This record gives sequence, structure tokens and C-alpha cells, in this order.
Amino acid sequence: MSGIYVHIPFCLKKCSYCDFYTVTTIKQKTEYINSLLKELKQRQNYIIKKEVETIYFGGGTPSTLNYKEIQLILNEIKSLFSLTNDAEITLEANPDDLTEEYVNNLQKTDINRLSIGFQSFFDSDLKQMNRRHNASDIYESIKFLKNAGFNNISGDLIYGLPGLTIENWEYNLNEFFKLEIPHLSAYHLTYEPKSVFGNLLKRGKLKEITEEESLEQFKLLKKLAEIHGYIHYETSNFAKKGFFSRHNTAYWQEKPYIGIGVSAHSYNLISRQFNVSNMKQYMKGVSEDCDYYTKEILSLSEQYNDYIITTLRTIWGTDLEKIKYNFGQTYYEYILKQSKKFVLDKYLIIDSNMLKTSAKGKFIEDYILEKLIYI
Ligand SMILES: C[S@@+](CC[C@H](N)C(=O)[O-])C[C@H]1O[C@@H](n2cnc3c(N)ncnc32)[C@H](O)[C@@H]1O
Ligand code: SF4
Repeated sequence: MSGIYVHIPFCLKKCSYCDFYTVTTIKQKTEYINSLLKELKQRQNYIIKKEVETIYFGGGTPSTLNYKEIQLILNEIKSLFSLTNDAEITLEANPDDLTEEYVNNLQKTDINRLSIGFQSFFDSDLKQMNRRHNASDIYESIKFLKNAGFNNISGDLIYGLPGLTIENWEYNLNEFFKLEIPHLSAYHLTYEPKSVFGNLLKRGKLKEITEEESLEQFKLLKKLAEIHGYIHYETSNFAKKGFFSRHNTAYWQEKPYIGIGVSAHSYNLISRQFNVSNMKQYMKGVSEDCDYYTKEILSLSEQYNDYIITTLRTIWGTDLEKIKYNFGQTYYEYILKQSKKFVLDKYLIIDSNMLKTSAKGKFIEDYILEKLIYI
């Protein structure tokens, strides 16, 4: 089983918090799509098993592609790989792109899951974030999607924003639950040094909320999501039964994937591959089939650290047996020693050899991870 990630770097506007690789013009869209099709051909043997169970169009803003462009890429994937019948095929979208016409056209493609960046239901926050939509676009987009028969929908929210009060965060969460969609990704704001927010923070023009406020917002998120029947299956992800993101779950369970496009990563259990974060170099490299990626063979301690960081954040936890057999006695003893105090204090639980973060441990997960990684 494996997955394919396709990076679409176009964004018509750059959001203040974001440092993903994006470009603010769509002039090179056709040329870029041709590069994606070429890269797919070049990379068809990267993963040993050709059966593909998930495809994820991420960005950037994949909804800058029209339905014919989306299906062109999907057809190429289908001709090169064998796609399982029940494959999950996700498109990330911005709410204002999801007009009635766009959504009806999407029904003509193989897309069967939407992940939409709501971020907030306050127009003032959306403006501060330099988002190009307003709150009413969110309600409209969900109405159009449901009318067109799309039910597998996820929405992204950001909390921990400068000035976000607990009352406003509660309002955002309640507006989200009213939409009755089965998946929520809620991220705490990270001040990325190269983003506008990161820059404003450095210059003292923005004030971070306190750690206590962050914790209070996370606690409210967890509590309300659980009251509304969502399972907290990964630190930032909540879903109704049967609606966990299969694509992201595969990342967290260390399954192989191919990342196509500028700045995309790939992993085939042996190495990680990183495509360049530069459009010109990427498109030139693909056309000559050279020099558009770097490859990294992971050391044992890097593999162990990757494994801990991705698995401990999930509901399934970290498999201690796997650590013993894949990484050896040294790493096994190391994790037992480093986790002992957290287990005694009930921040971590060991359940049938799976090491998991408890509900109270979730609040200090980053600190726990710092102690468990091998330096
Ligand atoms: C890769 S982005 C792309 C999605 C799409 N372009 C959009 O903005 O709606 C996926 C999500 O990551 C989250 N995100 C990006 N940068 C972030 C940051 N610095 N802090 C917190 N969340 C962030 C946002 O919620 C965003 O919707
Ligand atoms: S958050 Fe999404 S829309 Fe905004 S700049 Fe980043 S990728 Fe583009």
C-alpha cells in the first residue's frame, strides 16, 4: 500500500502565517502540470509496490486547477499505477474557489475528499491572516459540496492567534460543528521565521498569547470535539468514526509515499527524497531528468527519531516491540528509560506494548518528545 502526494504551489495571495513553498502567479500553470506528468513517469519505480491507496493534492492551493487539469493528472497516475477501487483522493481547497460551478465540475473527476482551509469564522481574523475569503464563503462552499454529494469533508482551523480570546475560539469551534462535516484539523499557530507573522513578532509588532492561554484553547478544542463525537486521533486531527484521513494516517504509520512537484518529499522505507523548492530549477530538472532532488539515506538514530515523532502523536501510539526488532536493544532500553517517569506520572501509558500519550500527556506532548528522541 502506498500514497501519492501532488504539490500545487499556486496561491493568489500569501497568508501571513504561511511558509509553505508557493508562488503568487499562475502564469506557469500549464508548463508546471506538464512537469508533474513527466515526473510521475520518471518516478513510477520509486516505490516497490505499485498499488496506490491514497492520492493527495496539497498546496499551495490545488483548487487553482480546473477539473480538467485535476483529472489529467489523475489519469496519468491511473495509467502508471494500480489504484485500489476504494482509493481516497483528496483535494485541498480554499473556500472562495468552491463555487457552485466548480464543485459541480469536481463531480466529474475522481476527487472524493475535500480538505478546506477555513482558519477562522471572524472576517477580522481572516483579514489579519491575509486570507482571500471571508466567513460567508465557508458556509456557501459547504452548502455547494453537500448539494453535489460530497460528504467526506475536512476543515482546517488555526488557534493560538495573536489576540484570540477563549470566547472567540469557542465561537469558531461551535460554527465548525454546526457545519456537520466529519473531519477537523485544528493547528496551533506556529510563528514561522520567514512568514509575515514571524517577522512582525521579531519586530515586536505582534504579541504571542501566553502558554496558559494556548493550553486553555487546546483543552477546549479537545473537550468540544469529543462532546460532538469526534475522535482525537492525532494531535491536530479529529474525525468521526470512519473518516480518519487515510493519506495522513499512512504517513504517521511510516508507509511509503511518492511526493510529486516542486518542494515535495518522498519516502520509500530506505531513503527520503526532497524535490527542490524552486519552480525554475524543478521544471528544468524534470525536463532533463536530473538534479531536481536530493536523496538522504537515514541513519538508524534518524529513523528511530522519525518513528517516535510521527507515531507518538497518534491514537495508536509507538510500538515498543517494533523499536526492539527494527532499531535494536540500545534504542529499546533508551525509550524505556526515558519514558519511565512519564509513565509513572501517567502522562504516558503502555498498553499491549504500545506507548501512548494519555489525555493529560497530550498537553505536554512536545516536551515528552524532546525527552524521547535520541541525540
Ligand atoms: C498546506 S496549508 C494549505 C491549504 C490551503 N492552501 C489553504 O490555505 O486553505 C494546510 C493548512 O496548514 C495550516 N497552516 C499552515 N501554516 C501554518 C502555521 N504557520 N501555523 C498553523 N497552521 C498553519 C493551515 O490551517 C492550512 O489550512
Ligand atoms: S495557507 Fe494555503 S493559501 Fe495561504 S499561502 Fe499557505 S498554502 Fe497558500
